[in-house]
Amino acid sequence: MVCRYGDDLKLMIEEVRQYTKEGKVADYIPAISLANKSDVAVAIYDGNDTCFSEGNSNQLFTLQSISKVLTLALALMDHGEEIVFSKVGMEPTGDPFNSIAKLETQVPSKPLNPMINAGALAVSSLIKGSSNDEKLDRLLSFVRELSGNPSISFNKDVAKSEYDTADLNRALLYFMKQHGVISDDIEELLDFYTKQCAIEVNCEDLAKIGYALAHQGEHPDKNYSIVPTEIARLVKTFMVTCGMYNASGEFAIRVGIPAKSGVSGGIVGAVPGSIGIGIYGPALDEKGNSIAGMKLLQLLSAKYRLSIF
Ligand code: DON
Repeated sequence: MVCRYGDDLKLMIEEVRQYTKEGKVADYIPAISLANKSDVAVAIYDGNDTCFSEGNSNQLFTLQSISKVLTLALALMDHGEEIVFSKVGMEPTGDPFNSIAKLETQVPSKPLNPMINAGALAVSSLIKGSSNDEKLDRLLSFVRELSGNPSISFNKDVAKSEYDTADLNRALLYFMKQHGVISDDIEELLDFYTKQCAIEVNCEDLAKIGYALAHQGEHPDKNYSIVPTEIARLVKTFMVTCGMYNASGEFAIRVGIPAKSGVSGGIVGAVPGSIGIGIYGPALDEKGNSIAGMKLLQLLSAKYRLSIF
């Protein structure tokens, strides 16, 4: 396939692969620690073609925190802004993604934003459905539509591996329940959240999801709206302010693309009105972002002038 980014992507991948040596695969979710540290893959979707520079369309990985963008959009579609933002705030924390610190120091004690774990757990409790199966079916349908890939599902082993070891997230949930942010059964909510995080995609899926968000929530291949324009705008704004956690400020300066990372090493990028980007590189920096993926986005942004600022 001819792709105008093709040759550049190959060179950029070669350039950034060296950084994978400096990173670490996440090991607090045992099933993720099995990933191949030196992997780097990228896809760009421009509305016509998807191009890959490395890896292949069959390389699957789990969304992890990238799912937070999608549950936020769905919760906003389910309930509207007033209800969602009564449970979760709009401010970056400057803290690691799993920190509990600000839950205790903020009054009222609601999580500061929907991209940190506490905020995402509160958002997950808002997804409509009479059972976890129904909630997950709704979320999976949404992800399948956004990516144009009807076969997307979740990885049961990764979900179980996280569920069995997620005591930090349990602590966040107990804290929020005590303070009235959530009222759910904690194990039920954690079951849903870990399955949401274990939804499996490849770079092409991520690039198409990024493209849909970049294009006001339009279907990546067909001509209809999946996410209302206002919600797509709001979600992209969170990606800029909180999408890379306590690296979001530097990322905005160096890259300037609305993006969201996950500890599996995925990053989705949405360049407004332009391309969607999907990245996979499981070697992470100390803040939990793909080390080679961040460098790659920096190179892409500089080469194609992708910064929104
Ligand atoms: O809740 C967790 O810790 C994981 N399921 C997701 C965290 C994550 O992906 C943070 N991203 N860099």
